[in-house]
Amino acid sequence: MSRVLVTGGAGYIGGTTVALLLQRGFEVTVLDDCSTGHADSVPAGATFYQGSILDGDVVRKALAGCDAVIHFAAKSLVGESVEKPDLYRNNNIGGSQVLFDEMDGAGISRIVVSSSAATYGDSKVQPILETHKAHPTNPYGETKLAVDNLLTDLCAEENFAAISLRYFNVAGAMKIDSGWLTERHNPETHLIPNVLKATADKPLKIFGTDWDTKDGTCIRDYVHVVDLADAHLRALDALKAGAHEIINLGSGGGYSVREVVTTSSKVVGYEIPAVEVDRRAGDPAVLIASIEKAKSMLGWEPTRDLESMISDAYQSLTAV
Ligand code: UFG
Repeated sequence: MSRVLVTGGAGYIGGTTVALLLQRGFEVTVLDDCSTGHADSVPAGATFYQGSILDGDVVRKALAGCDAVIHFAAKSLVGESVEKPDLYRNNNIGGSQVLFDEMDGAGISRIVVSSSAATYGDSKVQPILETHKAHPTNPYGETKLAVDNLLTDLCAEENFAAISLRYFNVAGAMKIDSGWLTERHNPETHLIPNVLKATADKPLKIFGTDWDTKDGTCIRDYVHVVDLADAHLRALDALKAGAHEIINLGSGGGYSVREVVTTSSKVVGYEIPAVEVDRRAGDPAVLIASIEKAKSMLGWEPTRDLESMISDAYQSLTAV
């Protein structure tokens, strides 16, 4: 039986991936410092260490008995990274370096890593291919790119087998026996949970209506968290010694903020209260993934559409 260490397994995407690994018969160890994750989000059946990837001793303990790693643990808010770049560099790059050193020491060389579309920066060409020149426009994207570059070196020099999965916009939730695994960010900055939490008193703020897009609002490529988690399991199977692959995960299409609001109104059965405000700093106008590489290399493609993401997110938020 294969045991996988999942760093950040108490978070939204990490926890969902842990649940899927357990369902498919893997043994799982979780390492999470719970700075943004929640201990009660770690699915039952996983061995849980509460600690930081910056702490080599706890990383070593957590790696015991594992033959692969899925690495989610990271700070992941674009806006916060602009305010606190050192926190992001220390945690995301420094923490990954500790993890990779400990893996090397323990003779574990198979790793799937969460990377981000934020590595690409602004792109005139859409959909974005993995070969697109990376020009991150914020510290978060810079740290994710730096980690990808560390892995390229480790694969070349230490024969690691690595896949970086570059997520576009992740949404939705997963139902498990004990309830829903869902987004629990504080403060919440992501569009779909904010749409679903909007009230007449606290309406959704639509950031910018003067973008160069069909309806003036930003366009993003949304992917369901369960589809995304499934790609991680496929990536584990696709790892090859000495090779570092970078693979986008999205849907290959995009929705504007207004379209997300309209679809959400339809799903929940009431008009989402919304106001139009200025652009948010750091937002690119359009981000759409090319997912041809995920299709060919992982045999993966998304199976759940925007309505299903919104519907699952809505059920999960109204259930907790
Ligand atoms: N938006 C609003 N109102 C809100 C929240 C968001 O109008 O209350 C808009 C944003 O301005 C943006 C779009 O909705 O145009 C999506 O915003 P999110 O905050 O949901 O997601 P981002 O695209 O900013 O970022 C997400 C992840 C990043 C990742 C990026 C890659 O949070 O980590 O996707 O596509 F880098």
